[in-house]
Amino acid sequence: MSITVTPTHPEFVAEIGGVDLGAPLKPADRDAIEAAINRYAVVIFHGQKLDDERQVAFARHFGPVEASAAKLRQRDIKHRLLADEIADISNLDSDGKVLEADARRRLDWLGNRLWHTDASFRRVPGALSMLYAHVIPDEGGDTEFADMRAAYDALPDRTKQELEGLVAEHSIWRSREQLGVVKYSAEELASLPPVPQRVVRTHPGSHRRTLYIASHASHILGRPVADGRLLLMDLIEHATQPRFTYAHAWKQGDLVIWDNRCTMHRARPFDTTKVRDLRRVTTRDVASTLEQAA
Ligand code: OGA
Ligand code: MN
Repeated sequence: MSITVTPTHPEFVAEIGGVDLGAPLKPADRDAIEAAINRYAVVIFHGQKLDDERQVAFARHFGPVEASAAKLRQRDIKHRLLADEIADISNLDSDGKVLEADARRRLDWLGNRLWHTDASFRRVPGALSMLYAHVIPDEGGDTEFADMRAAYDALPDRTKQELEGLVAEHSIWRSREQLGVVKYSAEELASLPPVPQRVVRTHPGSHRRTLYIASHASHILGRPVADGRLLLMDLIEHATQPRFTYAHAWKQGDLVIWDNRCTMHRARPFDTTKVRDLRRVTTRDVASTLEQAA
């Protein structure tokens, strides 16, 4: 079996075939996958058979794996999926039943419906996310992606200059607040304090410049909050024009990898009384964006 990489969008996104991700990964295949991620930012594998352990083992080939933020914050509640490395992106409770409309974990999970980039609210943010589909509803529930390198390239020079050196404050509480989800204990709030991240960064895998913003980005340091928010809103609106986006319609057995350093993503609606079971493993970036090349 030899690995194939087929681009499916004019700017980013490729499908990768000819590799079984549940089997030991050959070094040449690992390198081909990494090169495809660096070039295309979103890569899609179909028909994979992974359990949680194999999904984590595969991810470890691409960097240190992060513990799920929800599990770190909510040590006291029972989680459905046991490994700390697996983020539960399903709409199921710890007994495997569809979450009640007002369930706390469901409200948190609805944050995924906003354009975001995983773990930008951590000082050392997320790098690659790898989401695997166990159960998919018949309709809806696509995941959309936006190419932040192409979006940056298309900005007017004047805007690029204005963005030089800007730093945004990112906080998970900011994205939750946008949906009216605000009831968190002081302990939880303290567990994930706001962090600074560059608004424009150089994507290490391609050396292209990219926007680094989205729903956890609250405001711009050194500017009135309102001005910063308006700037961030304008940039998100710019970056999510159809020419910069791709919608992934899931099939059971799909594994999608995206590079959080140069994309945003969001979940689309579906009938949440139906089961949608996706599980994610995310690798950690090497340092805060402030400590990386501008
Ligand atoms: C995620 C995420 C979107 C979706 O796993 O980080 O945002 O469609 N998922 O479930
Ligand atoms: Mn996400």
